[in-house]
Amino acid sequence: MRKTVVLVLALAAIGCKRKSVIATNPVVAEGRKIYVKFCVTCHGPEAHGYAADNSPSLRSPTFLASASDAFLRAGIARGRPGTAMAAFGRGLGGPLDGAEVNAIIAYLRDGGPPLRALPPGPVPGDAKRGKVVYDATCARCHGTQTQRGSAVHLANPILLETASDAFLRWAVEAGRPPTSMVPWKGALTPGQIDDVVAYLRSMAVAPGIPAPPPPAAPAVGPLPPRKGPVVLNRRGRAPDFVLKEDRFVSIDQVKKALDAKRRIVIADARAPSDWLNLHIVGAISTPFYDARTLDDIPNDGTWVVAYCACPHHVSGEVVDELRKRGYKHTAVLDEGIFAWQHKGYPVVAAPGLLPSPAPPPAMPSSPMPSPPRAHH
Ligand code: HEC
Ligand code: HEC
Repeated sequence: MRKTVVLVLALAAIGCKRKSVIATNPVVAEGRKIYVKFCVTCHGPEAHGYAADNSPSLRSPTFLASASDAFLRAGIARGRPGTAMAAFGRGLGGPLDGAEVNAIIAYLRDGGPPLRALPPGPVPGDAKRGKVVYDATCARCHGTQTQRGSAVHLANPILLETASDAFLRWAVEAGRPPTSMVPWKGALTPGQIDDVVAYLRSMAVAPGIPAPPPPAAPAVGPLPPRKGPVVLNRRGRAPDFVLKEDRFVSIDQVKKALDAKRRIVIADARAPSDWLNLHIVGAISTPFYDARTLDDIPNDGTWVVAYCACPHHVSGEVVDELRKRGYKHTAVLDEGIFAWQHKGYPVVAAPGLLPSPAPPPAMPSSPMPSPPRAHH
């Protein structure tokens, strides 16, 4: 008993080391407010990550010490297409303007370490040798170019475009304590680290991969307008869904219901930028952070299936809101949109959209693996 108290006090003391200026700096306070509305659901209350599946920590000291403002801005505004990380910038159909993105960055940096000077220029590695290291050491968490694992997908074009060689090298060398990304310095020789960085670089589909194409129809304001009907197959019968845990419906059941022309609403819970890039055919955009977008869904017993990419976290928030409002037939698409897409089920994709990596083999609806905990 006593030991527990001492441990808790010790942890609290570590937590307190991070000196915050939230109370005194209005930009940081504003950034925190925006963070809580748009990011907390995946990256967690203090931005230590892992509230939804594989959302990384935005607070690990080695990350903050090496991530420039430009890197963070690109990550937030342009997102990581093909993953659960949406483009939050207005230019791509997201909800945030430049000042709001900068405020979030100020909040993330608040009390964190200063930026480290990283050596400029390329790392002299050999990609072929690096692949051997990668396959043996990194793939079990990071997956391959076309198949994602549980950790950040490193073949992502925005990541590779915005991360310098030195950023990647430092991430491998110093790791991201306290997450499961351990420092590899020592376990790998400096030469092997150079090689693995060269291999990461080679994972970009083409050298100097360009920004993803702008969405097909530029968003009008922060939300795409409804063009099609809210209810699909208005005259159809109700689908006979069998829900798991009174909550989850499988992609196969929903595909069958659509094929049989059953009456249904499909709600995309992600940011509108994600909807513009890729959505299930017939889906309406109802971002998890904007409950007003649910107002035109009829509350008359019609089935509403919400989906996202995480694979069912923010869609769960939409379903919770609908249930709170008294909707009787609601479900969360269990496996999420990427599993739907990879099964070849119908989607609407922006022209030129790069293929998304396959979801990890097992997509749990069961409890999430215990997150790497921050000392906090
Ligand atoms: C639906 C879940 C979700 C939401 C909401 C979300 N993120 Fe993310 N974010 C992710 C995931 C997942 C990744 C990693 C991408 C991958 O899986 O490869 C990520 C990656 C990032 C990265 C890159 C980190 C790195 O290590 O390179 C930044 C920066 C980031 N998010 C910031 C934000 C901010 C700020 C917000 C709110 C405006 C936000 N995210 C909202 C899921 C989310
Ligand atoms: C046990 C699982 C695991 C292994 C093995 C692993 N990583 Fe990671 N890696 C992670 C996790 C988890 C993160 C994100 C940590 C966080 O939340 O900040 C990460 C982050 C990274 C990042 C930073 C990405 C970004 O967007 O900021 C790079 C680069 C990276 N890993 C490369 C590697 C390489 C190269 C190897 C092999 C030498 C490797 N990792 C092995 C789990 C792992």
